[in-house]
Amino acid sequence: MARILITSAIPYINGIKHLGNLVGSQLPADLFARYMRARGHEVMFICATDEHGTPAELAAAKAGKPVAEYCAEMHGVQAEIARGFRLSFDHFGRSSSPRNHALTQRFAGKLAENGLIREVSEKMIYSVDDGRFLPDRYVEGTCPNCGYDSARGDQCDNCTKQLDPTDLIHPRSTISGSTNLELRETKHLYLMQRSLRDKLEAWIDSKTDWPVLTTSIAKKWLNDGDGLQDRGITRDLNWGIPVKKGDQPWPGMEGKVFYVWFDAPIEYIAATAEWADANGLDDAAWERWWRTDKGAEDVTYYQFMGKDNVPFHTLSFPATILGSGEPWKLVDYLKSFNYLNYDGGQFSTSRGRGVFMDQALSILPSDYWRWWLLSHAPESSDAEFTWENFQGSVNKDLADVLGNLVSRVTKFATSKFGSTVPAGGQFGAMETALIADLGARIRDYEALMQAMEVRKAAAELRAIWVIGNEYLQAAAPWSVVKTDPEQAQAMIRLALNLIRVYAILSQPFIPDASAAMMQAMGSDDWTWPDDLPAAMRVLEPGQPFSVPENLFRKITDEERAEWQARFAGVRT
Ligand code: MF3
Ligand code: ZN
Repeated sequence: MARILITSAIPYINGIKHLGNLVGSQLPADLFARYMRARGHEVMFICATDEHGTPAELAAAKAGKPVAEYCAEMHGVQAEIARGFRLSFDHFGRSSSPRNHALTQRFAGKLAENGLIREVSEKMIYSVDDGRFLPDRYVEGTCPNCGYDSARGDQCDNCTKQLDPTDLIHPRSTISGSTNLELRETKHLYLMQRSLRDKLEAWIDSKTDWPVLTTSIAKKWLNDGDGLQDRGITRDLNWGIPVKKGDQPWPGMEGKVFYVWFDAPIEYIAATAEWADANGLDDAAWERWWRTDKGAEDVTYYQFMGKDNVPFHTLSFPATILGSGEPWKLVDYLKSFNYLNYDGGQFSTSRGRGVFMDQALSILPSDYWRWWLLSHAPESSDAEFTWENFQGSVNKDLADVLGNLVSRVTKFATSKFGSTVPAGGQFGAMETALIADLGARIRDYEALMQAMEVRKAAAELRAIWVIGNEYLQAAAPWSVVKTDPEQAQAMIRLALNLIRVYAILSQPFIPDASAAMMQAMGSDDWTWPDDLPAAMRVLEPGQPFSVPENLFRKITDEERAEWQARFAGVRT
């Protein structure tokens, strides 16, 4: 039994995420966590909401709520939706937690002690009418690159150029609209990532098994242009983690907070501490996952995220950890994803284009979405959601292949032999061949799941369902029963056992359907089929079973057309 730490990139607090966000981190992380638990490993699966920064403040202002209240409410909303998708976090924390405040301040203090923080005086935009500095999205103006007149202080939405608020032409405050702005001197902290460059490079070079997508992004940032830049880790904002050195004040930094990207990854650790607190456990309980001097040396740590997050996880966060000089656990394997597009364009949160997590659950159960999203995960390239493709996968894979097998077998068995596993006959050549074929495929499936090859694992699982159908087709117990009822009973006994094994294998992808299948087989034995011939005999003659409610229904053409129109734009 191994110890497996899994984190998903933590979603921003402002608003409900779309399916593209879901498939890029939380959902594949959940797949892996479920699989690792199913194999008997000890798993700690952590996620949280990312609650600081200007987007959170601005969203709260738009909602007319104090930011702390807004975040508490949205955390509840996101947690509820996560449950709806059956995301099996051990803890869903909050980056605004007292634990994260203390840990973030501790890291900053250690970095300062180690001479890795410098103070920089710079001129920033100050709004006289608002009485505050205007970082990032608090200022808008004309893009110096393309002339777009509503470019934000951090980026132009029209040409995507990364900007600094002082780059904007005719800047104005997004709080008051005021143009009464001036440049004022303010002091900020910079993390001296440059001096950690060699350490970071050596560490990245040691990760020879990482996906190309991950290492190529890391290398690009390490070597491009001037190479790794020192990074500002503080902001002139009210909402956030106050700048302190450990629990000591930081002279000259009063009224400032840490930059959201400094504290967010630290929340992975803090959320594990929140988990311990929530379960009445002591510090040792979470430290054994994170401190290599306190038990974490035998933990394997996996991170899941979209490709835009890779630089922060391969460079910035490791710089924080390495720079602290303390024995914190670094990531062992970083699984990153490309983007999922939506029906000929991009998902867009601001324009409400695409399907958002709450809407998805309001039209179909989570298994339908989980199956489509995971079986089309954007791994080797960007992927695209279309309603035709979604309808096709659900109707074929889930309804025709898996659902149909379960209902055919259980209905036939009930009508011919009653509602207990029939006792007659012996497994013959066909059954033995099926078990051999299935056994080999399960070993392939295990290897793909272990390697986090999500799409390929889904394809292998589907193939596993298909060979069950092929067996039934060839064995044809509905014909055999007329001439050799004993043999037909053996076939059905095998098929019922097959349903139970399918429940176990499919559980990481479609947990609700798997639970329904297991329950219908009257079993609660989720033991992984390491020994398949034995697993195919777990349901013994006489064991009661039932016909499950229709596991999956088909999506009609009318529904497809209606949903396509409904989610084309502007979220209501
Ligand atoms: N909130 C960020 C995003 O959605 C991800 C933060 S991941 C963490 O892109 F490492 F910072 F936690
Ligand atoms: Zn522009």
